[in-house]
Amino acid sequence: MVKRIAACVFISGNGTNLHSIIRNSRDYNFPISVKLIISNNKNAHGLKYAKKYNIPYKSFNSSYKHKFERNCLTELKDKKIKFLCLAGFMKVLSKNFIKRFGYKIINIHPSLLPKFKGLNTHSRVLKKKEVYTGCTVHFVSEVLDSGNIILQKKILVKKNDNELSLKKRVLGAEHKLYPDAIRLMFK
Ligand code: GRF
Repeated sequence: MVKRIAACVFISGNGTNLHSIIRNSRDYNFPISVKLIISNNKNAHGLKYAKKYNIPYKSFNSSYKHKFERNCLTELKDKKIKFLCLAGFMKVLSKNFIKRFGYKIINIHPSLLPKFKGLNTHSRVLKKKEVYTGCTVHFVSEVLDSGNIILQKKILVKKNDNELSLKKRVLGAEHKLYPDAIRLMFK
């Protein structure tokens, strides 16, 4: 059994990537253990996984970024969190937060970074008639979707794909990529 790192996952919405991380972390050889979930949206569907798996969770209003980040840092310190995963977390963390947290922060993005940073990736991929799309797990830096890449999965765009079909296929791949990237980081 490996010594597991206390991790927190930040979410804003459905939390299907959170679910995949939790399920993987039920294997004692998985390098991290999810000890805290934080949402910036108290109605996030993903919070149901916190309840289902009995994991402590908090939701903080993020309208005031400074206050939100201060609340998060207090909670992270309190739970002795040493690793942070962003999973469908729709806010950009400040340079100050990244520095003050002091441990690794990673994120998943539904494109083959550095292509298609930011929002609405699938519609932009289709508009540009890309042959491939994919998903990327990367370190979080102060610049949006720009930190070093940890792992990527390439996915073929099919002729009859629309935004929804592409989103579904990429999301399915994300559920494997995120835990694989975490395993790789601590190998
Ligand atoms: C994922 O596609 C993720 O890459 C993006 O937002 C989506 C979140 O999905 N940042 P979920 O909340 O994990 O279901």
